[in-house]
Amino acid sequence: MDDQIAVLGPQSAALTAPELTIVVPTFNERDNIRPLLDLIAKALDGDNYEVVFVDDDSRDGTLPELQAVARTDPKVRYIHRIGRRGLSSAVVEGMLSSSAPYLAVIDADLQHDETLLPDMLAVLRGGEADIVVGSRYVEGGGMGEWAASRQLISRTATRIAKLIIRAELTDPMSGFFMLTREAFAGSMRNLSGQGYKILLDIFASHPDTLRLRELPYEFRTRQHGESKLDALVTWEYLMLVADKLFGRFVPVRFLMFLIVGGIGVFVHFGVLSLLLKGMGADFQLSTIAATVTAMTFNFFVNNLLTYRDRRLRGVWAIVKGLVSFYIVYSLGAVANVGVATALFERDYVWWGAGLAGVLVGTVWNYAATSLFTWKQKK
Ligand code: GDD
Ligand code: MN
Repeated sequence: MDDQIAVLGPQSAALTAPELTIVVPTFNERDNIRPLLDLIAKALDGDNYEVVFVDDDSRDGTLPELQAVARTDPKVRYIHRIGRRGLSSAVVEGMLSSSAPYLAVIDADLQHDETLLPDMLAVLRGGEADIVVGSRYVEGGGMGEWAASRQLISRTATRIAKLIIRAELTDPMSGFFMLTREAFAGSMRNLSGQGYKILLDIFASHPDTLRLRELPYEFRTRQHGESKLDALVTWEYLMLVADKLFGRFVPVRFLMFLIVGGIGVFVHFGVLSLLLKGMGADFQLSTIAATVTAMTFNFFVNNLLTYRDRRLRGVWAIVKGLVSFYIVYSLGAVANVGVATALFERDYVWWGAGLAGVLVGTVWNYAATSLFTWKQKK
């Protein structure tokens, strides 16, 4: 590449399409944009690259900042997404917008070591690997000042990852890597795109075992802004693993809905026995209270976990959601009783009729709440 630039001159080199696209997902990272670009420019001095920011409608001034740099620096582009959130899907969209033969991802917050980029590029140019991953766990890498609890989560998640990938990744949680366009193209149609573990998704979604190289780096401490990943990212991660494991057979969301419903049954009987036995209340009244409590429990847990990506927030949205949830469940109960009774009257065995009723009611509840309570945003 250096020879080529020498022959063509720097101007002509700048006119050719970039060899490397660096995708940077951002959400409220205003103060990190320029420092990151400076560091990348220093690291990749003389290379033909571009930086594509993918921002999910930040409100902290990241967008005006991106616009300002994109107007003056031809190496910089950005994609502005509205009404959507998600690290993985942002990265995928950035990559899809590129025509470069090599694609990289790096966090905006300067926690990844950009001086690794030239080495990553060299490995891919040499054809020795399809993907180069920055790892905190190979000799020479490190976790920086991460809290012990997050280190533990990260290590556990690494073990679980072995369930869905064959490659010997020491740091499957890494959000810092570079791959060839062919490798990405092999995965892109099968990606789950959920959550934040894009690297794992790429590996698990590729029909072949990708040739991997890992390079060590030390995870740095965030200087500006704050981390977007809360405790529940672990949950999203487990959903991704489950999707890759059983998604072909049953939608993971439906499984989740069933599990929450199962726990709801325990809540129901807990409340029932408390009121009936503990407080000597009337049976019908206790059953009504137990039903409402269990439904409310189901609503909030599903809102938090099953429909995390379409989570209802704010008092008004929650009240509306809760009301539609009650209505759907009431209709589900009617369907349940109707089906069970009809079958029982046609001489089906009592538990078979009961089970069929529960099944019909549950499928209705799932389908109808996903349509009405947790509507997909347009
Ligand atoms: N577009 C977009 N949309 N970007 C996002 C979103 C989102 O919903 N959520 C986070 N980001 C961006 C942040 O702005 C940042 O540039 C990057 O994604 C990483 O987010 P952080 O909030 O800084 O994540 P972290 O430091 O906790 O996690 C890091 O460690 C993980 C290793 O376990 C990241 O490097 C992850 O990529 C990595 O997987
Ligand atoms: Mn970070």
